[in-house]
Amino acid sequence: MQDKLGRRIDYLRVSVTDRCNLRCFYCMPEDGVPLVDRGRILTLEEFARLIEAATTAGVRRVRFTGGEPLLRKGLPGLIRTVAGLRADLDIALTTNGVLLAGMAGELKAAGLARVNISLDTLRPERYAAITRGGDLDRVWRGIEAALAEGLAPVKINTVLVRGVNDDEVEDLARLTLDRALHVRFIELMPIRFAAGWAPDRLVTAAVIREKLAGWGDWEPAHPPAGGGPARYFRLPGAQGTVGFIPALSDHFCGSCNRLRLTATGALRPCLYHAAETDVRELVRGGASIAELADVIRIAAAGKPSGHRLDGGWRDQRSMSQLGG
Ligand code: 5AD
Ligand code: SF4
Repeated sequence: MQDKLGRRIDYLRVSVTDRCNLRCFYCMPEDGVPLVDRGRILTLEEFARLIEAATTAGVRRVRFTGGEPLLRKGLPGLIRTVAGLRADLDIALTTNGVLLAGMAGELKAAGLARVNISLDTLRPERYAAITRGGDLDRVWRGIEAALAEGLAPVKINTVLVRGVNDDEVEDLARLTLDRALHVRFIELMPIRFAAGWAPDRLVTAAVIREKLAGWGDWEPAHPPAGGGPARYFRLPGAQGTVGFIPALSDHFCGSCNRLRLTATGALRPCLYHAAETDVRELVRGGASIAELADVIRIAAAGKPSGHRLDGGWRDQRSMSQLGG
């Protein structure tokens, strides 16, 4: 698929639930985001049909997100179905890691290739504060399980917030030395409920790179499998890499290859643009795979050129509702 700007669209992010077992302060209010009615959430069969239609339209990468996708019952079965659609499909998962240790083997066996795990700090009390109650130890066990099961490359997503965890940049970067972990620093985005967001809270990729520059001989590294918008660097001899996702300071909309499907069946060509197509009623109404694929192609063709976050626009939904 190509859009009007000639961008190749081959990547679908699928949010399988709006629920989460954490309450990260930059994502949700303390008492959570009002959950949508169960009946509006797509069933696993509906997800499977829409993903099949997306592959018919040209999608070659699928990432499951949430909320927290591991809360969705039957996710391994959905992954198995999707893995059976095409041999060359790249299937990935973004998780907070809390439930991963007990599921990594089953997910791998179902056909999951790799995981991204969210982790903003290495300090247990700080982790509990940022996530409002999360247990860092469980996430570590999840990371170890992902490495042991070969859900590789294992990427760590770290949102840096000035005054909250920006003093841990070096410690987090150090994780890449003796483990095949790829730590990616993500700029905080001003989405709705991003309580921590204020312009002075943003730690830009440039500032992080400067912090790290004095600390070693960083060399540009090949991106680990999966591509995406991050730029990567490696310390000599390190097993993993450090990446930067300058979501705000240098946005990468010009090379964006993705579409999103929300848990309620809205197809969103851009995370930060209100344009969306409701595909839930179509799939519920019995539309054929070919018909669904046509709708997906049309949505992709009309992908907005870019976001307007730096202009102060705020989405009405949270990251947990959109799928990050
Ligand atoms: N800015 C940047 N990243 C965010 N995430 C959630 N909210 C925000 C925000 N306001 C990240 C999570 C997770 C991914 C799915 O989205 O940390 O890594
Ligand atoms: Fe849950 Fe992810 Fe939002 Fe944290 S950032 S509350 S883990 S959905």
